[in-house]
Amino acid sequence: MWPLVAALLLGSCCCGSAQLLFSKVKSVEYTKCNDTVVIPCKVLNVEAQSTEEMYVKWKLNQTYIFIYDGSKNNSTVETNFSSAKISVSDLLKGDASLKMGRTQAVVGNYTCEVTELSREGKTVIELKHRMDSNSSHGADCSNHTTPAGDEKEKGGCTLASWFSPNEKILIVIFPILAILLFWGKFGILTLKYKSTRTNKRIILLLVAGTVLTVIVIVGAILLIPGENPVKSASGLGLIVISIGILIPLQYNVFMTAFGMASFTIAILITQVLGYVLALVGLCLCIMACEPVHGPLLISGLGIIALAELLGLVYMKFVASNQRTIQPPRNK
Ligand SMILES: *[C@@H]1O[C@H](CO)[C@@H](O)[C@H](O)[C@H]1NC(C)=O
Ligand SMILES: *[C@@H]1O[C@H](CO)[C@@H](O)[C@H](O)[C@H]1NC(C)=O
Ligand SMILES: *[C@@H]1O[C@H](CO)[C@@H](O)[C@H](O)[C@H]1NC(C)=O
Ligand SMILES: *[C@@H]1O[C@H](CO)[C@@H](O)[C@H](O)[C@H]1NC(C)=O
Ligand SMILES: *[C@@H]1O[C@H](CO)[C@@H](O)[C@H](O)[C@H]1NC(C)=O
Ligand SMILES: *[C@@H]1O[C@H](CO)[C@@H](O)[C@H](O)[C@H]1NC(C)=O
Ligand SMILES: *[C@@H]1O[C@H](CO)[C@@H](O)[C@H](O)[C@H]1NC(C)=O
Ligand SMILES: *[C@@H]1O[C@H](CO)[C@@H](O)[C@H](O)[C@H]1NC(C)=O
Repeated sequence: MWPLVAALLLGSCCCGSAQLLFSKVKSVEYTKCNDTVVIPCKVLNVEAQSTEEMYVKWKLNQTYIFIYDGSKNNSTVETNFSSAKISVSDLLKGDASLKMGRTQAVVGNYTCEVTELSREGKTVIELKHRMDSNSSHGADCSNHTTPAGDEKEKGGCTLASWFSPNEKILIVIFPILAILLFWGKFGILTLKYKSTRTNKRIILLLVAGTVLTVIVIVGAILLIPGENPVKSASGLGLIVISIGILIPLQYNVFMTAFGMASFTIAILITQVLGYVLALVGLCLCIMACEPVHGPLLISGLGIIALAELLGLVYMKFVASNQRTIQPPRNK
């Protein structure tokens, strides 16, 4: 009985009288990745035909920080919130969300008050600031003492915290594995295909392979500790960009050993695709604030290593099938 009465009362209260209903959002968070902060305020039952009938006020604590007067089509902002605005064109859809620059955002309870002719309503949304989600793996970033954060933070600081320790290990392991596999192929090459004709190429491969090995090791040393964001970023860049050297190296190994076959072409194409994937992943990582593109980068590096493995297996297979090893036909 009582629930029924209560429901009836509630019903008449909500639908009969002049009450605006809001979608329920208790709180929103922003991080240093949000350039603009949006505090949502959505009216579900807007009936106004024109924004002239609407009036929106935003309050923080007891101070009005933003007022939009539809009849005058005029917004007034408090000086501390000069970047605050609403989207007037979305107002008729019920959207009175307040947008402001992150640097002006202040945590606290914001009240959104909307009036539409004789109907009105309000809702409270708490704005929270979230520090870097997980800084457990070392002091990746310099201290976030300023909640507003400066722009400098974005590039270097987040870079180091993009990757979990496990991801960093994969980023280092795959290239090192690929290089070891390259040296494996190099070994087969020198043992099985050595001739005066191939000597020059072998020396070239030796030099390029050594340079690549050194670059990747240096990159790993810079990336792994991760206490210095600039160092980590350079390490990551060194590893990902230089690993592409493996493609011409693999091509040269094939050419020196037995020339091109459809299988070796397929291996090279796979490796190029892996490299492109890794580069795209790197670019996205540099541009994005949140660490969402690590898997792309890592899978690219994984594919490069896989192509290297296939190359080694194929070479071993061909080498063991050739009873009498001849120097390659031409060159
Ligand atoms: C901050 O950005 C995230 C991701 O883009 C978004 O989900 C969130 O709503 C934003 N927070 C605020 C307060 O604007
Ligand atoms: C709002 O009020 C709280 C406590 O009532 C205070 O800590 C906070 O600084 C106030 N915020 C602003 C922007 O005045
Ligand atoms: C309100 O003013 C803005 C410019 O400040 C204008 O673009 C918009 O069309 C106006 N809207 C109405 C309903 O007058
Ligand atoms: C909006 O209101 C302010 C003060 O209330 C006034 O100075 C300003 O000229 C008004 N702007 C428009 C476009 O009416
Ligand atoms: C505006 O900012 C100043 C300085 O940061 C502060 O003293 C003042 O209380 C702020 N006003 C409001 C209404 O938050
Ligand atoms: C906002 O209001 C909630 C509940 O009323 C309260 O728990 C919270 O501390 C308030 N936040 C601030 C920053 O005043
Ligand atoms: C933060 O790290 C802890 C363990 O160190 C983990 O349980 C948690 O899910 C992580 N949170 C985020 C947002 O990554
Ligand atoms: C960072 O903050 C910690 C305490 O929170 C402090 O001990 C340390 O000296 C700070 N580091 C820098 C570089 O400011």
